[in-house]
Amino acid sequence: MAANGTAGEADEFWLFGYGSLIWKPPPHFDRRIPGWVTGYVRRFWQVRERNIQDHRGTPEAPGRVVTLISRSFWEQLTDHHNSAPDKVWGVAYRIKPDRVAEVKEYLDIREINGYTIHYTPFHPAPGVDPSLLPRNHNRDHPIRTLVYIGTPDNDQFVGPQDPQELAEHIYRSTGPSGPNRDYLWGLEAALDELSPESGDKHVTDLSDRVRAIAAREERKQGPKHQPLSVLQREHQHHEQPHDFRRASSIDEQEETEKAP
Ligand code: BEZ
Repeated sequence: MAANGTAGEADEFWLFGYGSLIWKPPPHFDRRIPGWVTGYVRRFWQVRERNIQDHRGTPEAPGRVVTLISRSFWEQLTDHHNSAPDKVWGVAYRIKPDRVAEVKEYLDIREINGYTIHYTPFHPAPGVDPSLLPRNHNRDHPIRTLVYIGTPDNDQFVGPQDPQELAEHIYRSTGPSGPNRDYLWGLEAALDELSPESGDKHVTDLSDRVRAIAAREERKQGPKHQPLSVLQREHQHHEQPHDFRRASSIDEQEETEKAP
């Protein structure tokens, strides 16, 4: 048992993904468990700035990606999406014990494009095969996981936005690595697959708005930007994993998250 009451063998290293990591795993993992963390709210409030490593957005419309907001901070804000589930669903990955040092070396960068490293207790979903859990895990002892968070003090944190303006912005943001809307729709599809209760209204509402915008633009311009088909999403979920070895930043990792 870890000193802070979380489970995990001394040599175990777990990573929590609540964004693209859900469908794009890190390297060298041997276990993937759906579940949740509490005390946070997931929001599309992090700017994906355009720079030499990032082509998700244009200079006029840098893309938006998710971050976690501490729930107590979020409660002080005025957010148009004024409710949020208590549980932030995602997945925890266990890194193979013999690759932990190597993977930590890639991950243990203090700041990556606004995201900083934090640790948070992770609760596996009910019904997860017990053989996948740490030996000393039980309901009272969640798993300690590393998580990337873009906190409000980072330059790329945007804060509350009007959902329709945000949806228009996501719809417009694109670049050589693919449209920002594919990240949004990819997240919606990945969350749907985790559990019947893993949906996130912030994500589904934005996805619906962007679909409506795409339909509106299609009517105006002809069929240019089709939402991902089920097959395309399926393909996206089986793309190559995050490659922390080649990537010097999260931006570069996301460079590989191209829509098919
Ligand atoms: C994720 O949890 O998927 C994630 C969070 C921040 C940066 C990259 C990925």
